[in-house]
Amino acid sequence: MGLFQWLWKSITGSTVEHTDQRLVKVGDRAYVENAPYVLPKDEQEIDRLDLQHYVFRYMLRDNYLAPLKNPGRILDIGCGTGLWAIELAKGFPTADIVGLDILKPTLDATQRPRNVLFLQRDVLKGYHLRNKHSTMPICVS
Ligand SMILES: C[S@@+](CC[C@H](N)C(=O)[O-])C[C@H]1O[C@@H](n2cnc3c(N)ncnc32)[C@H](O)[C@@H]1O
Repeated sequence: MGLFQWLWKSITGSTVEHTDQRLVKVGDRAYVENAPYVLPKDEQEIDRLDLQHYVFRYMLRDNYLAPLKNPGRILDIGCGTGLWAIELAKGFPTADIVGLDILKPTLDATQRPRNVLFLQRDVLKGYHLRNKHSTMPICVS
């Protein structure tokens, strides 16, 4: 079974609720309501995260430091804008990449490579990956 099929099966049979997060305005910034996350979630934050992504990529001269050869599955917890997951998907076209975030990236669907899946989940509420035999390199950001 492919990763995406397995994930969908796992999600549809899961007792873990999908998060139903909403944004609240505080001053001129938007924040995730009732979440233990202090940073804003708005256009300004997207710009900041994108800039940070490019700065790190420039400094590291790559998107990662781990000695990845030919990864099959990559889980990006707290994927934010989804930019890193998308770049990894392009760099590893045979890998299945899953980006989890309390709010899904607001990407145009055409920007998403077919080997990336974005899921809206609060990881603090638990996330069951049912297949005990699966192995996934995990990135928490
Ligand atoms: C500092 S941002 C980093 C985003 C991205 N990894 C990057 O490097 O640009 C942290 C991300 O974690 C997400 N996050 C925070 N708490 C979370 C939770 N409980 N479950 C899932 N995602 C969460 C936020 O929504 C945010 O997108």
